[in-house]
Amino acid sequence: MSQALISCVLGIPEQDRQEAGRILYAAFQRKLQPLLGAPEPVQRILAVGLNLDMALGAYTGERLVGLAGLHLGSRHLFGMTLRHCVTELGPLRGLYTRVAFELFGAGRCPPDQVRIVALAVDAAQRGRGVGSQLLEAVFTLAEERRLQAVRLEVVDTNVGARQLYERMGFVPVRTYRFPFIRGWLGYSAAIEMRKMLP
Ligand SMILES: CC(C)(COP(=O)(O)OP(=O)(O)OC[C@H]1O[C@@H](n2cnc3c(N)ncnc32)[C@H](O)[C@@H]1OP(=O)(O)O)[C@@H](O)C(=O)NCCC(=O)NCCS
Repeated sequence: MSQALISCVLGIPEQDRQEAGRILYAAFQRKLQPLLGAPEPVQRILAVGLNLDMALGAYTGERLVGLAGLHLGSRHLFGMTLRHCVTELGPLRGLYTRVAFELFGAGRCPPDQVRIVALAVDAAQRGRGVGSQLLEAVFTLAEERRLQAVRLEVVDTNVGARQLYERMGFVPVRTYRFPFIRGWLGYSAAIEMRKMLP
């Protein structure tokens, strides 16, 4: 398939919030649905809680086709609050969902690095270079800010994404194993990968 002509911008405009939530939910449905249940309310909470300034959006023309969610310092893409979750789902499920999102987005990001908390491309646009171009845009942003490395985590069953990261210069630095969740969430380890910048 031909390479998509895209532009990457830091900060997704408010008008694309729902679309960003849809692309993210669709990309991570395999992980989110067993954890959180019915798609609609979860997708709504995801969209409403996104810190859009922490995303690089990939556009073909006016259309959002993918995004890289960033973690810089103490701020990252996933900003959903307990209030968002409780309003949508009631107190018990809302609290559980808030905690589950915390685990989903959890992870450290040292001050001299940027962490990619999510990389997602619209399913119809995959395999055309959008993900690679988003990664290049993260490298450029990190170099402009004189950061030393870009880091991310990928689960053991996501072989395609791992190949992409290796092709883009990431190397595995650590493996976190959770064998007990394989039957439930479909993976049993997360691999932390890092790319050092020049
Ligand atoms: C991973 C993902 C962001 C890649 O985006 P993309 O635009 O297809 O990436 P590119 O076209 O630049 O690169 C394609 C590479 O990604 C990999 N890949 C992973 N899943 C793929 C998919 N469903 N379709 C096509 N390629 C995929 C392939 O290894 C491919 O490598 P190749 O070009 O050497 O054949 C996209 O497939 C996606 O959104 N997947 C679901 C969410 C996800 O798994 N995110 C990563 C979590 S760590």
